[in-house]
Amino acid sequence: MVTFNVTAGSYDRFMGRFSGPLAVQFARLAGVRAGQRVLDVGCGPGALTARLAELLGAGAVSAVDPSGSFVAAARARLPAADVRCGAAERLPFPDGSFDIALAQLVVHFMTDSVSGLREMARVTRPGGLVAACVWDHAGGGGPLAAFWRAVHDIDPDARDEAELAGAREGHLAELCEAAGLDHIEPASLTVSVRFTTFADWWEPYTLGVGPAGAYVTRLDQARREVLRNRCAQLLPPAPFQVTASAWCMRARA
Ligand SMILES: C[S@@+](CC[C@H](N)C(=O)[O-])C[C@H]1O[C@@H](n2cnc3c(N)ncnc32)[C@H](O)[C@@H]1O
Repeated sequence: MVTFNVTAGSYDRFMGRFSGPLAVQFARLAGVRAGQRVLDVGCGPGALTARLAELLGAGAVSAVDPSGSFVAAARARLPAADVRCGAAERLPFPDGSFDIALAQLVVHFMTDSVSGLREMARVTRPGGLVAACVWDHAGGGGPLAAFWRAVHDIDPDARDEAELAGAREGHLAELCEAAGLDHIEPASLTVSVRFTTFADWWEPYTLGVGPAGAYVTRLDQARREVLRNRCAQLLPPAPFQVTASAWCMRARA
């Protein structure tokens, strides 16, 4: 099980750079508009929560995450939003509370992704929308693709994130079907992030965030250096852009 026992600052430097721009597109894909009540499941420090608050006002936004440090950060960022500690598989909200429930980059970390999606449907009003997205880790289109390629060059048996739920094309739709959702519509979104130096790209990997950070944390100094050098060989000269795609789906509760 992957834990996110890291500071919000570490998360933002590692993944927040990608999830911020992704949130703008994901909220658009979900058709978020004034007057709706929405839930951000697995909100982390609040990249999508903040975008939803911009669109709807923080009072119309609820969010939930199992990580105490992330819940504290999201609450500090958006004091008027209803941010709770909890997991997707047991959402602390009554049936039909929201017009839309969204999970950005979360389904692959749920303990039971089908139960999590079913719970998202339960707390959404009948006919409301459930939306989720997961990076294209299986197709090599995610933001960490160069990192995992470098890892496999030196440690071929290392487990990456390709087999996680929703990380391959079509899998989110299969999970939604298993969760009993209707009118399932797959989509994909792409963002680009600019890195000014190689260090700007590498340093966040050393902060212990998610499976990639956990992998680096387990390496001794010498092996870490080998991995760092391999990553530098694989990436273009700085400054460079990393383009990342996420599989998405929208479905009716
Ligand atoms: C990659 S982060 C995404 C955070 C945020 N949605 C974003 O886009 O930046 C994954 C998040 O899922 C949360 N998470 C892990 N297991 C979860 C579960 N079972 N239910 C809900 N959230 C979970 C983690 O605590 C973490 O905040």
